[in-house]
Amino acid sequence: SDAELIPGNIILIGMMGAGKTTVGKLLANLVGKTFIDVDHEIQQRTGVGIPVIFEIEGEAGFRKRESEVLREVVQQQNIVLATGGGAILYPDNRTLLRQHGTVIYLCAPVSELRRRTHQDKNRPLLQTGNAHAKLAGLFTQRDPLYRETAHIIMDSGKQSARTFVQKLLQRL
Ligand code: S3P
Repeated sequence: SDAELIPGNIILIGMMGAGKTTVGKLLANLVGKTFIDVDHEIQQRTGVGIPVIFEIEGEAGFRKRESEVLREVVQQQNIVLATGGGAILYPDNRTLLRQHGTVIYLCAPVSELRRRTHQDKNRPLLQTGNAHAKLAGLFTQRDPLYRETAHIIMDSGKQSARTFVQKLLQRL
């Protein structure tokens, strides 16, 4: 099919709960690319979950690992990459991602992000305080960064991953 003719890497960015992992797996399968999830890769390498890394090394320690893994995995060809929500916080990472693939921003409203991350124990940034307020604050801070990094911006809020992928394929 046409889907197999899409060249290069596809890099998914966006907030926690935007659907990067679900969309990424589906898309990779459809277009015959290798799926890589940065958080999963970090967990594989350290042998512990993300919350443990935050606990022991803090967010800064996690960001350092995340940046290292990003730099390494983008060297591969023909991948679909699901990044963590904070991957775009460092300017160097934003440049790196844009240079190594077509960057897609999965944009969803905070209410939807909240619904999809509800009671998720694997996201340390949402474990303390009011999760809705936290997500809203992160969204305000990051939305401009996702926009400046992305080649393509698409709403992933009110549609299934399958529909999202179909629409995305029309734009690639
Ligand atoms: C983070 C998002 C998480 C993970 C970590 C920090 C963030 O990835 O990297 O908990 O800062 O938004 P997901 O976007 O896959 O949840």
